[in-house]
Amino acid sequence: MSIRLTPAGTLDFDVLVDVFNKAFADYFMPVYHEAEGLRKYIYTQDIDLGSSFVAFSGKEASGFVLTGIRKAEDGLMVRVDSMGVAPKYRRKGVATILLTESRRQAEAMGAKRIILEVIQANSRAISLYTKQGYQVARELKNFQWGQLPLPGEISLGLTLRPMGLEEAEAASRLCYTYQLPWQIDRLTMKKLGKPYECFRAETGGQSVGFAVLVPREDSAHLFQMGVIPAARRKGVAVAMLGELQRAFAHLSRWSALYVPAEERAAVGLAEKLGCQEFFPQYEMQLFLPGYGRRPLEPH
Ligand SMILES: CC(C)(COP(=O)(O)OP(=O)(O)OC[C@H]1O[C@@H](n2cnc3c(N)ncnc32)[C@H](O)[C@@H]1OP(=O)(O)O)[C@@H](O)C(=O)NCCC(=O)NCCS
Repeated sequence: MSIRLTPAGTLDFDVLVDVFNKAFADYFMPVYHEAEGLRKYIYTQDIDLGSSFVAFSGKEASGFVLTGIRKAEDGLMVRVDSMGVAPKYRRKGVATILLTESRRQAEAMGAKRIILEVIQANSRAISLYTKQGYQVARELKNFQWGQLPLPGEISLGLTLRPMGLEEAEAASRLCYTYQLPWQIDRLTMKKLGKPYECFRAETGGQSVGFAVLVPREDSAHLFQMGVIPAARRKGVAVAMLGELQRAFAHLSRWSALYVPAEERAAVGLAEKLGCQEFFPQYEMQLFLPGYGRRPLEPH
């Protein structure tokens, strides 16, 4: 059966929603979007529907690739956000054709590198990406926890004060010195729609850290949290988590996602507090012609 690709932006949006949900129907975790949710996701992740594609096998939509594009100081950043093929069309080369086209588009735009993330247990996707020339760039860890075993009385006299997203962005620049994964990057943060809560942590009138939280019904995603370099190794992070837990006592499940494994302080903190790790991922990268092969620099 012939496979034809159509730019996602030229199609009725429901066709994309439908093939997206079919492709993820048997995924490692529930992934399902109504049209509105997928639109919001496309907005926050900077997905460009002009360089995203739906594959048709005969008349039926069989697969898709969503491509994110961002401008960075050192050029264009391109990311395969997600891709999938409906179960009955798998193992027929659909994903290979989709990825080949997204690579062609990225090269035509002048990109020098494409990134993507994949769950480490997703061996068929890893095999697919490896065949396309992608290599593991780094490991990303996901953590979840319920009530943390924190000190009964939170020490340090730490106070959390609400602040705006712009201030949180500035605090984030002070605290993170490495390239943040796309999903928790400051460019994603800028586009967070409500509900979100940003806090400045203070001790003795001094700002020592910040946290950005996305509360849901009974869970919370700790989008970013950081302690300024001068205040590290003094128990600030543990005190902040304690204050957050106290302020949002009705939320029983917490998560922090896409923590780079080389971020030893964050990983060490999560281990010390007994957070559970789930679905570790790889960030993979494909170098395109002209890539300088410089090591990734902090920004
Ligand atoms: C991963 C996925 C996109 C592959 O789609 P596909 O159209 O079946 O892939 P292709 O037919 O182009 O296969 C290309 C290569 O992928 C790998 N692959 C695909 N399916 C595989 C399987 N079931 N087992 C092992 N390797 C597999 C192989 O290396 C294959 O090459 P080969 O056929 O020469 O062995 C599809 O299985 C899928 O949609 N899975 C659910 C969603 C998902 O995991 N998306 C990726 C993460 S965002």
